[in-house]
Amino acid sequence: MKRLIAVSIITFLCAAPVSAAPVDTAGLRAQGLMVIQKFFSALKNELRAGLKKGGPVAAIQVCRVEAPAMAKRVGEKNGWQVGRTSDRLRNPANAPDPWEAKVLAMFAAQAQAGKNPGKLVFGEVVTNAQGKRVFRLMKGIKMGGGCLTCHGPSPSAAVRNQLKHLYPQDKATGYRPGQLRGAFTLQKVLD
Ligand code: HEC
Repeated sequence: MKRLIAVSIITFLCAAPVSAAPVDTAGLRAQGLMVIQKFFSALKNELRAGLKKGGPVAAIQVCRVEAPAMAKRVGEKNGWQVGRTSDRLRNPANAPDPWEAKVLAMFAAQAQAGKNPGKLVFGEVVTNAQGKRVFRLMKGIKMGGGCLTCHGPSPSAAVRNQLKHLYPQDKATGYRPGQLRGAFTLQKVLD
């Protein structure tokens, strides 16, 4: 029995990765969620101001140019890479990679089952192609009333035309408030 325990302990010690320092996933998740909150509220403010100042067609520019710039700015300070993705894209540059596609499918199933899409969160430590450990985090984005102008079932003719012109493959209209519109996607290299 004693020998069995000793063997088990040795097996456990040998199986445990020695080089990898433990990762505080709860801390990273909390930090990432704060970055998302900052990004989302800055984006919504900017959109609101853009809509007020120049109307919806001009505000499309906010989403097109300002959103990626803001994502970069908000994340860079803390070493996070920040973006948005969806299973129904407007900009093909926001296409999900395989990990993101898997999480989006999981979120879609959870939303289908009645969960609040804006509260869906999934985080995981993965190893990237360079062999580095990366913490990846996604949070669902819920379609709100203020998003209808550009993502709703019936955008105005002017908005429709501008979207068609800028995003010929646009799949991101036809949403109703409360639906899962997409997700924030973050990563931070740990090693
Ligand atoms: C004034 C028009 C406008 C409004 C209002 C708007 N969006 Fe968008 N949205 C866009 C444009 C344009 C893009 C493409 C941005 C790009 O080129 O990266 C976009 C892209 C996105 C994306 C990235 C995924 C994709 O399909 O490319 C998400 C997620 C998103 N919007 C969610 C929202 C949500 C949630 C709201 C409401 C809070 C909202 N949008 C309000 C115009 C708008």
